[in-house]
This record gives sequence, structure tokens and C-alpha cells, in this order.
Amino acid sequence: MSLSRGEFSSRLGFVLAASGSAVGLGNIWGFPTQAASHGGAAFLMMYVVMAFCLAYPVLMAELIIGRHAKANSVAAMSVISNNSFSRKLGASIGFLGIVTSSLILCFYSIVAGWMISYLFASLANILGLNDIAMWFTKLGVVGNALFVLIFLMFTAIIVSSGVKQGIEKWSARLMPLLLIILLMLIGYVLTLDGAVDGLKAYFLPDFKQVLDPNLMVKAMGQAFFSLSLAVGTMLIYGSYINKKENLVVLGCAVTLVDITIAVMAGLLILPAMYVAQHNGIVIYDEAGLLIAQDKLIFTVLPALFDTMGVVGAFASLAFFLLMTIAALTSSISMLEVPVAYAVETYTVNRNYIVWLIASIIAVLALIVVCNFKLLFGFVVTLTTGYSQPLLGLALCIFTGWMWHRNKILLEISQGYPNVEHSLFWKVWPFYIRYVCPAAIIMVFGQQIFN
Ligand code: TRP
Repeated sequence: MSLSRGEFSSRLGFVLAASGSAVGLGNIWGFPTQAASHGGAAFLMMYVVMAFCLAYPVLMAELIIGRHAKANSVAAMSVISNNSFSRKLGASIGFLGIVTSSLILCFYSIVAGWMISYLFASLANILGLNDIAMWFTKLGVVGNALFVLIFLMFTAIIVSSGVKQGIEKWSARLMPLLLIILLMLIGYVLTLDGAVDGLKAYFLPDFKQVLDPNLMVKAMGQAFFSLSLAVGTMLIYGSYINKKENLVVLGCAVTLVDITIAVMAGLLILPAMYVAQHNGIVIYDEAGLLIAQDKLIFTVLPALFDTMGVVGAFASLAFFLLMTIAALTSSISMLEVPVAYAVETYTVNRNYIVWLIASIIAVLALIVVCNFKLLFGFVVTLTTGYSQPLLGLALCIFTGWMWHRNKILLEISQGYPNVEHSLFWKVWPFYIRYVCPAAIIMVFGQQIFN
């Protein structure tokens, strides 16, 4: 089996693909809106702490397990187990991860579909086709369904080409493009009147909020989602890393890229909100709270672009292109989780299985689209609010308590011979054994009791 498995062609290839997975709607939409509504820099600070102290250790666990087993998440979780009971338990955890990843892709593709429709709307606006542009922004169920299918189709096309030719190649093309568009948009927005107020709101922390338990819950959830943790995405990408690579450094690089892009997205979105306010657009709701989430991206920003004439139309196009790219490099990593499992377990043709699984996910997504009010929020909460933290907890417990320390050390040493004397090895084993599980339980408990 391992002979026919894909592998990233280089260190950079992995970093781009894994950063592509990490950097997504969570960074460019989720992070800035959370920061805007949770005390600006207070959220930023807590997010950085959570990302490094909680998410990075879990990311490392996934990368190490994946590369050790060189297999899909079900097989990998049983490889690190030491008796028949824990093997079964491990396999179930791996399998739940696969289901969760597929369900996340379900709602993610719906949101990504909106981004594509707004992308088309911007294009129509530039061409002066205002009625058509209007149609794209006021989609009914059929329109929504269409764009979900288009997005999943692109995802499937890339994944069907395999690890090197599909995932790595497209991440390497799209990630630099994403960075360029983001930088251009930031540069532009910062020149507009009102942007400085946004910077103030972003960088002046509301210290009262720093230790607010609710902010911690949000920051942890955001860090887990943003680093694509606990469902096997990073485990499977880890399984495609060559044995001579230094996992500690690679994991650090991915975490840094993820945080950097989130912080940069804040530099775009928060100033844009205040520029919008400067142009007379309402950004506070009746309760005096900052408008967040869907209203921000689909109401405030388009209204802002509208006030800026031709330049605004191009800015809008660039923005929704940015969102679509970010979503695509993430969705391919979600689809790879069930695909890798099916290919390796049933030894079926990759192309066939990609389209089969993408079709199943498309059907589920269409069911959600048709019952949006009833199901959308439910699927989001079930997967990101419950499944992800609980699977993360299980992953820490398996790595910290079931897997033999020396075997872990041996695995990391292959690409990092001196790891035994490194700061990483002094801290991480303790972290993954005690600190991460305790912190996840505390934060998760806090969420349940609220
Ligand atoms: N991290 C991505 C984002 O920030 C989304 C993502 C990709 C994800 N793979 C995942 C989230 C696996 C949870 C689990 O948008």
C-alpha cells in the first residue's frame, strides 16, 4: 500500500498545501469578524495564545501520527494503539473524523458557493449587466444549489488528480495569488477615509475582555477550525510528508502562516468596516453591537464597494476571488480525508472514489440548502462545536497516553536527529498529555454550561 501512496514533492510543497488547508474562510471571514465583535486586539492576543499553546501541539500530534503510519486516519489511529480494544477505539475515532470532515465540507461548500455567486455578481457589475448581477446576489434555493455543485466540482477535479499533481500543484498556484490579492486589497483599503478607526478598533485591546471565558471558548474554537484540526486533515497531509523532513519546523511554519494571514485579514476587514461606516453604511445593529458574520461580508462590504464606483467593482471582484481561492485550498483538504480512507481500504480507483464521495457530499449539502433554517446551524454546531473539540481531546489522549513515548521520539528523530535535546521535546510530551486535554475539557465544559 505504502508504495502507491502519494507524497509531497518538497518541504515547500507541504507547507503550501497545509497552509492552504489552514488558510480559508475561517481566517479571512471568521477571524476578523470574531475580532471585531470580541474586543479587537483582546481576541487577537487570546487567539495567538490558543494557536501556539493548544492548536500547535495538536497539529504536531496529527502530523507525527500521520507520517508514522503513512496511512489514512482509521488505519493510522489503530497503528498507534497498543491493544485490541484501543485499536478498535482508535479506528472509530479516525472514522468519526472522516464523517466530521465530510460534514464540514457540506456546510463549507454552501458558504463557498455564495462567494462564487458574489464573484460572478462583481463580474456582471463590471460588464454593466446590473440585472444579472442582482440575480447572483439574490439567489434562491436553485441558484444556491447550482453554486454548491460548481464549487464541489472544482474541489473534486483537483483532488482526483492526486497529491502531487492535484493538491500540491494547485495549492502552490493559488496560495501566492491569495497573498498578492490580500496585500493589494489591504493597501487599497488603508488609503480610504475612516480606515484608521478600524485599525484602532483592531489594535487597541479591550482588556476587560481578555480573560472573558466566552472569548476563550471562541478563540479556541477559531484556532482549531483555522488549523483544520482533529478530523484527520492534517494527519493525512502529514502522511504524505517525506521521512527526512523536520516535522517540528514544518508544523511551526504552517501555524505561523495561518496566524499571519488571519492577522492580515483583520487589517483588511476591520478598516473596511469603518470605511463603510464613514460612507454612511450601518455597521452597528439595534443592540449597539458590531454587525458580524454573514451581514458583514454580504451586506456591509458589497454596500461599501458600491459607494466606490468602478474601483469598487474591481475591489469587489478581487475580494470574492480571494474568498473563493481560500475556500478551495481548504475544501480539497477536507475531501482528501474520506478519499484517502476509501482508496486505501477498498483499493479502488482514486478518480472513481473522488467523484462518488463528492456526489454523496453534494447530496447532503443540497439537503441542507433545501432545509437551510433547520439544518445549516445544526451542522455547523455539531461539527465545530462538539465533534472537533471532542475528537481533539481523543487525539491528545491517544497520543499522550496510548502511544509509546520512545516510538514518537523515533518518528520525529528521522528528520530531526537532535530532537531529544530540543525545547520541543522538553515541552510537547507534557503538553499533549496533560495541558491540552485539561484545557480542552475546561473550555468545552465552559461552552456546555453556558
Ligand atoms: N481551516 C480552514 C479554514 O480556516 C477550514 C478547514 C479545512 C477545516 N480543513 C478543515 C476546518 C478540517 C476543520 C477541519 O477555513
